[in-house]
Amino acid sequence: MKGSFISFEGIDGCGKSTQIDLLAKYFTTQNKNFVKTEEPGGTLGSNEIRKILLRENNFQWSVETETLLFMAARNDHVEKVIKPAIEDNKIVICDRFMDSTIVYQGMRSPQARKLGLMLFEQIGINPDITFLIDMDPEVALNRALNRANNEDRFENYGINFQYQLRKNFLNIAHQHSERIKIIDGNRSKENVAAQIIESINNIDL
Ligand code: ADP
Ligand code: TYD
Repeated sequence: MKGSFISFEGIDGCGKSTQIDLLAKYFTTQNKNFVKTEEPGGTLGSNEIRKILLRENNFQWSVETETLLFMAARNDHVEKVIKPAIEDNKIVICDRFMDSTIVYQGMRSPQARKLGLMLFEQIGINPDITFLIDMDPEVALNRALNRANNEDRFENYGINFQYQLRKNFLNIAHQHSERIKIIDGNRSKENVAAQIIESINNIDL
């Protein structure tokens, strides 16, 4: 028997971390063996890449180079955390995965999208289910900007960027409707969590 892989996606501030925490609590009550992780990050090396990608915006990389860095972080994370956990029959809950690269980098450059997809073929692992928390970009951006941290790169691109992100996430969700479940995030935390748990129970992880 093998474990399973759940990812969460959506624009900045849509409530992914909140929902991941609520799902983790639920799995704990169910005595399920799970690992909670995030991208870019999840390993020592990937966290170093995260720092240079999100905090130190001094390098003026092209979007293609930025894609290579996100993919390098992902490769380390898959090798060291995601694959071993699945082999160990655990449920992996991951805050963002490849769909974020397709949206955040891919929508800015077809070449970046191509590079990302080419490398992703070699990484060779896809979530069993992805929850796209879809919501009003104005509300989400305000939530994200009110949060106290200094990882503000993509949030600082402004509201139009957030609208574009939302549109692109929805497009991918329609293209991969067998994997990506769209969740209406414009509701209470508890309502959103209840729908996610219901979906999980329906696929019997
Ligand atoms: P993300 O991880 O997607 O960036 P967070 O889970 O950190 O988003 O949520 C951003 C902020 O919005 C947090 O302060 C969180 O408490 C709040 N929040 C999350 N979900 C909801 C919700 N359904 N209703 C109101 N506030 C929410
Ligand atoms: P995250 O920590 O999930 O931020 P937030 O809580 O605000 O949603 O992700 C960090 C940022 O990195 C976020 O703005 C999205 C961006 N990102 C990409 O541009 N490409 C990627 O492949 C990933 C995984 C994240």
